[in-house]
Amino acid sequence: MRSSSAARRNQKLKRLKNRSVLLGVSGGVAAYKTADLVRRLKDDGASVTVMMTGAAQQFITPLSLQVASQNTVYTSIFQDPLTHISLPAQADIMLIAPATANIIAKFANGIADDILSTAFLAFQGPVVVAPSMNWKMYEHPVFQANLKRLLSLGIRQVGPESGPLACGEEGAGRLAEVAAIIDAVAAAMTEQDLAGKKVIVSAGPTREYLDPVRFISNRSSGKMGFSIARAALRRGAEVVLISGPTALKSPSGAVLRQVDTAAQMLRAVTEETEKGASVLIMAAAVADFRPAEQARTKMEKQRVRAIALDRTEDIITRIASRKKRPFIVGFAAETGPDLKRAMLKMQTKKMDMIVFNDVTEEGAGFETDTNSVVIIDRKGKVRTGLRSKDEIADAILDRYLKIKTRLYFPILLKN
Ligand SMILES: Cc1cc2nc3c(=O)[nH]c(=O)nc-3n(C[C@H](O)[C@H](O)[C@H](O)COP(=O)(O)O)c2cc1C
Repeated sequence: MRSSSAARRNQKLKRLKNRSVLLGVSGGVAAYKTADLVRRLKDDGASVTVMMTGAAQQFITPLSLQVASQNTVYTSIFQDPLTHISLPAQADIMLIAPATANIIAKFANGIADDILSTAFLAFQGPVVVAPSMNWKMYEHPVFQANLKRLLSLGIRQVGPESGPLACGEEGAGRLAEVAAIIDAVAAAMTEQDLAGKKVIVSAGPTREYLDPVRFISNRSSGKMGFSIARAALRRGAEVVLISGPTALKSPSGAVLRQVDTAAQMLRAVTEETEKGASVLIMAAAVADFRPAEQARTKMEKQRVRAIALDRTEDIITRIASRKKRPFIVGFAAETGPDLKRAMLKMQTKKMDMIVFNDVTEEGAGFETDTNSVVIIDRKGKVRTGLRSKDEIADAILDRYLKIKTRLYFPILLKN
């Protein structure tokens, strides 16, 4: 039998649990990607009901989307009378992917001549559109005016991305990645409690070079930092993600700065915090040591006996010593349960919060999708237990917001 912690480890955070997504598919060449989109929305816990335009059915069959969604697919307002009113009434969110130039023009002008455009007018909740078309169509001022009108009404846009298009041309018009579309749906359904805040997150390892080929590094995968960046974006923050080398895809909407060495990480964090930030979350495993000397060419192995190391500069100490500094969250990866070293580290480095991480605990630490941490600040501790890194990310941001609200409370009273 599988242990409960192993079961927990395999449990993905279902951001759309008990949410009902009304997915409108219009007739773009990217419509074939919606079978995967439906499957991934369901993986995230959503129930999905699909509506299709006539043109969409030229690109993918209703049967495919019926199988993917395990639900009836609606293709006409006359198929089942009044569904253009009842489907929107039952939905939490409406997502249009791909959204053609035509459907966006109809939405912007209140035209209701098929199931999708009619249901749009009858829907009162959040709407996300994922435009996809040829780049000339996308850049056309008439299309841009229609899109702008929708955005001014609070409708959210995800994508398009730039790159090679189905027509053989290149430019802005590719349907956003499925993961980015789902992130946008989750964000549209999440309280925007970090709106107006700038969050800087560092993630991943650094590499300290011995020569142009060899380096010293560590086991950090970057997953914890990337989860924090995604959670902050979902909650409405402006996010700068400063990352060492990882195999992860940058969350859409984040400004990504890729670095290699601890010195580059220090420079990027300094530059970004100087521009102003609400909070700096240092989830990166920055190397403590670097080779005292770096060979310009590959060293001959016979000649290497020992490697002399120098300490790297401590990034948090440097940022914390500045007069104008953000709220600083550090991480302490330890190989045992004792919190003392982490607490001391928080005090000596003048952090506002530290996330203690016993990397020897099952399911915690490097490379895993789960973690188990203790969030320590000046007022107390929060033990998270074994949870997904996405959930831990939210717990860290929750605690930050709680402290910030408490700190500002007396100031608000004074005014
Ligand atoms: C092969 C092919 C690919 C097309 N791809 C797109 C597309 O990616 N985006 C778009 O806006 N229109 C595209 N169109 C044009 C739409 O299908 C057309 O404007 C249609 O009227 C859209 O109808 P709908 O918005 O009701 O689905 C394509 C047409 C064809 C024939």
